Amino acid sequence: MTTTIDGSRIARRIRQQVAEEVAAAALSGTVPGLATILVGDDPASAVYVAAKRRAIKEAGMRDFHRHLPHHATHDDVAEVIDALAADPEVSGILLQLPLPRHLDGMALINRIPVTKDVDGLTTASAGRLARGERGLRPCTPSGVLELLDAENIPLRGANVAVVGWGELVGKPLTQLLLSRGATVSVAHEHTTDLAAVTRAADIVVVATGVRGLVGPEHVRPGVVVIDVGIHRTPSGLAGDVRSAELDGIADRITPVPGGVGPMTIAMLLVNTLRAARWGAEREAVAA
Ligand SMILES: NC(=O)c1ccc[n+]([C@@H]2O[C@H](COP(=O)([O-])OP(=O)(O)OC[C@H]3O[C@@H](n4cnc5c(N)ncnc54)[C@H](O)[C@@H]3O)[C@@H](O)[C@H]2O)c1
Repeated sequence: MTTTIDGSRIARRIRQQVAEEVAAAALSGTVPGLATILVGDDPASAVYVAAKRRAIKEAGMRDFHRHLPHHATHDDVAEVIDALAADPEVSGILLQLPLPRHLDGMALINRIPVTKDVDGLTTASAGRLARGERGLRPCTPSGVLELLDAENIPLRGANVAVVGWGELVGKPLTQLLLSRGATVSVAHEHTTDLAAVTRAADIVVVATGVRGLVGPEHVRPGVVVIDVGIHRTPSGLAGDVRSAELDGIADRITPVPGGVGPMTIAMLLVNTLRAARWGAEREAVAA
């Protein structure tokens, strides 16, 4: 029988835990705060930012939001980031992607100091992850690890196939899994025999943006499947995995929606709390 991994329940528990820690921190006078920056009026980005701000407020953290017009220049956005970077009340900074095409997203993201990089997407944070140094890890791959941990699925020595080598998910996830002692195979668009890679795995994580890419022909019985993909379809959200076809084959599988998605926001809250603690430690050293 295939069990569905309830990401919504696990995410709720994490959010509750963060809220308790925020309340305890507030008693000693420090309230973590997240600054979200939205440039332009992309409707999907506006929905994502609104959800993040709601979650931040629900956890008892401070919400610092900046909305810039679509025609904002590189210097306009840079100025906002630099001001937030220098503001001790702001624990974390999140620049919502994608940015309007005239802006260089990577150059702007790289202005965020590592201690406030709650999305973990700066080059400095990626380097720290690769080196195993202290840093904030990207939310979605951290959420995947949290799901596996919550399900008591061992990673050390496990064979894990990561399908997709994107900047947001596949690349950082590969590093995180390696740091936990997994043997990781990475497949991507140039992989000639995807099934050969995924059928050798105990755990398959799919993050490609290709709807329904992975099905029963790709997995062996008893596998754990984590579906990171999100696609809007006329009949609702769908993932990168044909999950109905894996029923009775996979041991456990994440649904879409209600799997990895809710974990991403939960991990943003965790990162904001970590960033606040990191910032406070630095201030204490500087004092
Ligand atoms: N659940 C969430 O909260 C969440 C968060 C971020 C991203 N996502 C989803 O995760 C997916 C990946 O995101 P990303 O930003 O890392 O993507 P990306 O576009 O940066 O990378 C996609 C990767 O998939 C690989 N790929 C494409 N076609 C393939 C194929 N046929 N076989 C094997 N590999 C193939 C590409 O080589 C590339 O490495 C997207 O569907 C995105 O919507 C979900």
